[in-house]
Amino acid sequence: MTKGIAVYDGDMFGREAVLNARATDDAIREMAPVVWLARENVAIIGRYAHVVAGLTDWRSFSSRSRPWDDPNSARRGILLTDDPPRHTELRRVVSKVLAPSRLKEWAAEFTRVADEQVARLVSRAGDVVDANVDITRPYVHQVLPDLLGMPNEGREHISAFGNIGWATLGPRNEMFHQALRDSETVAQWADWCCARENMTKEGLGEATYRLADTGEITQDEAKLLVRAILSAGSDTTVVTGATAIRAFCEFPDQWDALRANPTLLRNAFDESLRWDSPSRMAGRITAKEITIEGDTLPAGTRTGLLFAAANRDPRRWDEPDRFDITRDLRGQVGWGCGLHSCVGKVMAQLEMDALFGALLKHIGRFEAAGEPEWWMTTIGHGPYKLPVRFTAVAQ
Ligand code: HEM
Repeated sequence: MTKGIAVYDGDMFGREAVLNARATDDAIREMAPVVWLARENVAIIGRYAHVVAGLTDWRSFSSRSRPWDDPNSARRGILLTDDPPRHTELRRVVSKVLAPSRLKEWAAEFTRVADEQVARLVSRAGDVVDANVDITRPYVHQVLPDLLGMPNEGREHISAFGNIGWATLGPRNEMFHQALRDSETVAQWADWCCARENMTKEGLGEATYRLADTGEITQDEAKLLVRAILSAGSDTTVVTGATAIRAFCEFPDQWDALRANPTLLRNAFDESLRWDSPSRMAGRITAKEITIEGDTLPAGTRTGLLFAAANRDPRRWDEPDRFDITRDLRGQVGWGCGLHSCVGKVMAQLEMDALFGALLKHIGRFEAAGEPEWWMTTIGHGPYKLPVRFTAVAQ
């Protein structure tokens, strides 16, 4: 390690830091281009240009090991934990499963569920409702498992299952152990509901297993991929949807602008991802010696590339804390960047097109009705509870 590298003595993944993730990550980004976490022995890179350079250079920043990798973990990684050529092979399979042409066939179903749920929500106009618990979560937790072809039984475990995934991306602290408490039941449920024989013939789960029949991947890998889609696709989408509602509470003129021009919906969702990204960082390991602005990291350095801080880096974004649905968002890294960038992006977009499409028809205005409670995972971030009130549009 270069002598003189900036050192952060605090606990970037402790309770206080997670509660104040925005401020924590932004402060680390402003300290220096590379910051050494003394507690964790991990290098952190938070400035936009370096984050993008790292994410797009897998030969230097490998995914094969990550900052807190446990080689004995019962939870085997796949895809996100692979480099080419294996990553390329697996990605080809997942891209076929999540192909936009296949997903578009589900758009009408997303709209049906969104319209039904929002119609029920509208009767609660003026009351305090929760943007996550009452709006985005019930919707995503219905359409995602339906699309995969999962049984109905046990779907209440989806968040806990996702949290186990998020927790094991971070250090073994209080939140890690909390997520793994009672994980046996959740793990058994995930194993059962993602087994081929328990999934419908029409869902994406079965489509993944069919690709294994052709020999492109093994049946075991197919199951891991189905589980990865369930885990990566659930609370990311729930929390980003809730973040968008939080932004519309803070910037009501932006909801008015979207109602006046709903074609801006995709951009608005991307802006909420930039404004407050649900994933704080990507974990990588340096595969060779790297020098960034004079600081040298030897090969084998465990590294975190900060998506969220990069998305608010004032070197790249004008007035980064302003939520502006007309912003030019090319280059925002909330979906990641490079070969691991989000393979479920189109699915999340179609889901949110339908949900926000329904909300736009019925909701005149959102306003905050209390403080948010934050998602208590070390790497994930966003409102896990968000009390809001809304007015209904006269039909
Ligand atoms: C708003 C919602 C979402 C956000 C913000 C999001 C964000 C991300 C990010 C930042 C990455 C890159 C991680 C890295 O480089 O270390 C990623 C990868 C991934 N995402 Fe998403 N995601 C979302 C929704 C989804 C959905 C709906 C699915 C599945 C249907 C999904 C499946 C995946 C998978 C499998 C990967 C790993 C890709 C690879 O390693 O090649 N995501 N996502």
